[in-house]
Amino acid sequence: MPLAAQLTKFGPASESLSVVEISARAPSPGEVALEMLAAPVNPADINVIEGAYGDLPPLPATIGNEGVGRVAEIGAGVGHLQLGQMVLPMAFGTWCARMVVPAADVVPLPDGLDRFQAAMLTVNPATAWRMMHDFVKLAPGDWIVQNAANSGVGRAVIGLARALGWKTLNVVRRESLGDELRAAGADVVVTEECDLRKESKSLCGGVRPRLALNAVGGQSALNIANSLAPRSTMVTYGAMSKQALKIPNGLLIFQELKFEGFWLKRWRERAGNDARQETYAALAAHLKAGTLFTPAHAVFPLARAAEAVAAAGEETRGGKVLLDLSA
Ligand SMILES: NC(=O)c1ccc[n+]([C@@H]2O[C@H](COP(=O)([O-])OP(=O)(O)OC[C@H]3O[C@@H](n4cnc5c(N)ncnc54)[C@H](OP(=O)(O)O)[C@@H]3O)[C@@H](O)[C@H]2O)c1
Repeated sequence: MPLAAQLTKFGPASESLSVVEISARAPSPGEVALEMLAAPVNPADINVIEGAYGDLPPLPATIGNEGVGRVAEIGAGVGHLQLGQMVLPMAFGTWCARMVVPAADVVPLPDGLDRFQAAMLTVNPATAWRMMHDFVKLAPGDWIVQNAANSGVGRAVIGLARALGWKTLNVVRRESLGDELRAAGADVVVTEECDLRKESKSLCGGVRPRLALNAVGGQSALNIANSLAPRSTMVTYGAMSKQALKIPNGLLIFQELKFEGFWLKRWRERAGNDARQETYAALAAHLKAGTLFTPAHAVFPLARAAEAVAAAGEETRGGKVLLDLSA
């Protein structure tokens, strides 16, 4: 029987998450069964486990917001997928060895991708890509400023911006990350202590950024908002510091800044199948070309899912914690 990480109540993973056997039902017409390969532990997964997310599943539930699998069985009437093909399920509940989903809800991937990198494609690179395209029309040479630049989203922004000819001003908590992020394609890396109202113009070669991406909130968000050119936009997509936004009235009145929010779940609901396939095809090509790369901190077998969640919550981790779903 295949295994799945099941949440029975909201709270610390050590008390609420257990690994159980699930049935291996055959796909119905229009469905496919996936042999799951890998999934990351993202902040959103931890938020779901703790019961502090925008969308919570009825319990008990197999959890997991993203992952990658191979097509293991094809239901009647499904013509566009092949056995063994690597795919991304656009469905909740990925932390399992086998998953049955509507064939319309999987995105086929090209051959030859690393399964752990592919497992991290659905959420963070897509968030980066949509935020970079849906709010401000940027041209080569334009600057994006972002905090949490060492995060999965932040690294995707750095890689994609470099490939598109856009520039990035990156804010991190630790100075020691500078060389690593510059090697990954970051143009400028500064720490949270840098006063961007004063410094952004000289850091960005005489212009100011036109798009800010905020995953932190509080003082960090204000700092990147202060770095922007007049009539620019800040998109908030995360709240890692758990501090609320404090935006001075003058930034709206005198600078005419726009403040927007982004949630990938809403984009996926609105976008429709064609836009979704187009976005993931572009991202898969960037992954294959090496534009996108997310470092891994540790890989745990599915049976040790609660330990993986604890490791993902550690302040000092150096990359993503992943689950090997085939182990
Ligand atoms: N809205 C959406 O659709 C959407 C989609 C994807 C992600 N997100 C959100 O985006 C954020 C990043 O996700 P991710 O998976 O990319 O993250 P991740 O790879 O797990 O990295 C977390 C990042 O947050 C930083 N961080 C942690 N605590 C912090 C604090 N108190 N103050 C400032 N920075 C802090 C870390 O800094 P260090 O590098 O110094 O450790 C790290 O860079 C999360 O809030 C997540 O929920 C939202």
